[in-house]
Amino acid sequence: MDINNAPLVKALMEYVKQGTIRFHMPGHKGGKAFPKEFLDNLAAGDVTEIPGMDNLYCPAGVIAQAQMLAAKAFGAHHTFFMVNGSTAGIQAMIMAACKPGDKLIVPRNSHRSVWAAMILADVKPVYIQPRYDQENFMATQILVQDVQRALDENPDAVGVLVVHPNYYGMCSHLKQIERVVHGRGKLLLVDEAHGAHFIFHPDLPPSAGELGADMWVQSAHKTLPALTQAAYLHVKGPRVDAKRVAQVIAMLQTSSPSYLIMASLDWARALMEAEGKALIERLMQEIHYAKARLRSHIGLLTINDYDKGEEVEALDPTRLVLDVRPLGITGYRAEKLLREAGVQVEMSDIYRLVLICSVADDRATFKALVERLTNLIEKLPGHRLGPRAEYNKMSISQEIPQQMMSPREAFYSIIENIPIRESVGRICAGIIGAYPPGVPRFCPGELIDKEGIDELLNIQRYGGTLFGLVKNSLVPVVSE
Ligand SMILES: Cc1ncc(COP(=O)(O)O)c(C=O)c1O
Repeated sequence: MDINNAPLVKALMEYVKQGTIRFHMPGHKGGKAFPKEFLDNLAAGDVTEIPGMDNLYCPAGVIAQAQMLAAKAFGAHHTFFMVNGSTAGIQAMIMAACKPGDKLIVPRNSHRSVWAAMILADVKPVYIQPRYDQENFMATQILVQDVQRALDENPDAVGVLVVHPNYYGMCSHLKQIERVVHGRGKLLLVDEAHGAHFIFHPDLPPSAGELGADMWVQSAHKTLPALTQAAYLHVKGPRVDAKRVAQVIAMLQTSSPSYLIMASLDWARALMEAEGKALIERLMQEIHYAKARLRSHIGLLTINDYDKGEEVEALDPTRLVLDVRPLGITGYRAEKLLREAGVQVEMSDIYRLVLICSVADDRATFKALVERLTNLIEKLPGHRLGPRAEYNKMSISQEIPQQMMSPREAFYSIIENIPIRESVGRICAGIIGAYPPGVPRFCPGELIDKEGIDELLNIQRYGGTLFGLVKNSLVPVVSE
């Protein structure tokens, strides 16, 4: 059989053969943290609801047991295994919490699944702008006072959704937010996609469950040894009806859930419960080692060197965020060079590399990272930009544009795609923004203004990338 006629299979096999060092998800890092028996039987273990395997949507056997063990480990009353990532988990949380027409307070730098849920369920967003670190050009976290204000102005909102932590591992003051939200009898929903490991070590930021969230979602596949798409949706306390959540999950997910994904959720919990504390301890030591060497060898900074704003309570010590400004190259370039040197990071932005580390990484992995980064930087020609490069001129406003219609109304309008400069004065039908900072400048249903378009074009000019455009240049707008 020739795999050359199967381009995806071929590309995957080539990537595997290259033996690239993986600082990207999934957290099992090529199977390193799976038991041999599971790895040896991946294809054989890909089964369906045969006798003895239970049923995800009316669990009474092994899936029910595995979910109960997960609930205990993560401090929830009910845990649901998700086979379509935190994406489906976030949609399920919102759709279980809200009725059509309800208001939900959400940060603007939410994951796009939040807008999908708002469109599906006709939920009306009340946006909170995350703080913005101008010096380092990144969105950080939301302020407790901003949550308070949003609730004051919208006493009819159902609740608040918080992203905790963000992609860079920055955590909000979630406990204070919890007091504010529950003090008014509202729901606290948490997108903890990047924090599934938090509960397993006391030196990590507390998990949303420990801080009193009513529902929280975790992408096990990002930071734990679990297969891509594996996620948990947890429910705790009296404010949410778990039966309703189960109903919504069954509506959103496939009727043929992967047993491999579900088994990996069970495995990730079992491993972390038994050995997580020691494994995370070791991981934090290795990251400390890598940071210290990268600093002394090539002067690299990390996110720990930034002044932490009042909105950020803690940083995840297992998220390795390297600031490459001292090298005089962009994060995008550093990512490309590192890839050529056999290391793939999770993502890059103008200033930074974001590396996802997990308990599957060991001393050899970090040693290779330090060596390869040091080698390639030493070979860079001496034409560097200097630490304060031109793109420091980028800025983005904290203003939230006028909302003309709901995301659902915008989505179901007739939509046309028009050049970005011509979009001023029109109603946005998509989510448009710049990366970094990764926060939408215009959301569905909002009036596009000149100031915002100028900001986006300026960021693009200095090397940032715009997201949400059709064919890289057109803005989806509601037809007049
Ligand atoms: C903050 C945040 N929430 C949710 C998601 C969606 O997670 P998943 O890939 O598990 O669907 C992501 C994905 O990157 C994310 O960064």
